[in-house]
Amino acid sequence: MQIRIAFLFISLIILVAAITEPVTKVQLGEKLFHDPILSRDSTLSCASCHKPQFAFADTVAITPGIEGRIGRRNAPSIMNMAFRSNFFFDGRAATLRDQVHFPIEDPMEMDLEYSIAIERINNHPYYKDAFLKIYGEAPNADNIADAIASFEESLETSDTEFDAWMADKENTMTEAAIRGKDIFISDRAKCFDCHFGPDFTADEFRNIGLYDGISYKDAGRYEVTKNPADLGKFKVPGLRNVAITAPYMHDGSFKTLRDVIDYYSNPYEFVANPINIDTLLARPLNLSEQEKQDLEAFLLSLTDKRFIPKS
Ligand code: HEC
Ligand code: HEC
Repeated sequence: MQIRIAFLFISLIILVAAITEPVTKVQLGEKLFHDPILSRDSTLSCASCHKPQFAFADTVAITPGIEGRIGRRNAPSIMNMAFRSNFFFDGRAATLRDQVHFPIEDPMEMDLEYSIAIERINNHPYYKDAFLKIYGEAPNADNIADAIASFEESLETSDTEFDAWMADKENTMTEAAIRGKDIFISDRAKCFDCHFGPDFTADEFRNIGLYDGISYKDAGRYEVTKNPADLGKFKVPGLRNVAITAPYMHDGSFKTLRDVIDYYSNPYEFVANPINIDTLLARPLNLSEQEKQDLEAFLLSLTDKRFIPKS
């Protein structure tokens, strides 16, 4: 009798393990992405700052790291990263795999030496086993980064009203959104000069005027290159799902899309003496109320349907 119960018990454990066990790199990466094991005091996971329901961005300007530590930049969406060629606002990581250790080691974020993170994952019977099965080797710096990056690469989105309209499929693009798209790509607004390509970024670094050394002190790309020409330049962010990733800009200082559009209409009303501002923005656009509303309608059409509640 006792043997039979023990046998049943063991079978149950094996069954549960089989059901919850990740079977692919993407699933293993997803589990790590949501696991606080990667932060020093085991309180924060990647998903604490990159929240799945907001296109893996956050809704506050600056998300606190462990022990409530406040960094200086806004957590951006990490969807549509598969085709990016620079990571972070200043481009300090060149690949998605190289990016992974930065938040883990950042004292303002997870504050854990990567070598200790690797050790922890090796001591975790479940992860150790999963890496051996999927990668044929124990967890190490490369395969941990690869699993997380593989998960991030699975987060591509293109099921939007805009894409349906572009492909001549059934869609609900409004007249305003179509006019907004025309303004977006026009010589007048010049948005497309910087936000181009399928994800509305070409991974360049540009300065839109949010650096004056006084109220805006983050020098952006310059911190990496030390080239004065890069002062105040930030990576042009992609714009897919932008309607649900507020607040905006590297420091999250713009609360709404309307604020962003008002800024582009006349940057100098917000920052009187920007340093090194892009020549495209040398003169205020002075957009009309109608143009502003149309641009906003266009940006709203870039939200993937998975984030739009079904009515
Ligand atoms: C405490 C909040 C926080 C945590 C935890 C965090 N991030 Fe981030 N993440 C940020 C911020 C803020 C930035 C922008 C930093 C910068 O540009 O300097 C960022 C940037 C990124 C980027 C670059 C996006 C782009 O457009 O270039 C990726 C990818 C990313 N994080 C993935 C991760 C992964 C993977 C983890 C877990 C290992 C993680 N993050 C943990 C806040 C966080
Ligand atoms: C000179 C290049 C350039 C032009 C022109 C430009 N942008 Fe940007 N855009 C950027 C950069 C760089 C950022 C990020 C700045 C930062 O984080 O401080 C940005 C940020 C944004 C954001 C915030 C995204 C986020 O997730 O925080 C939106 C929305 C946006 N731009 C829309 C537009 C629209 C609409 C236009 C046209 C009216 C436009 N952009 C014109 C380079 C440009």
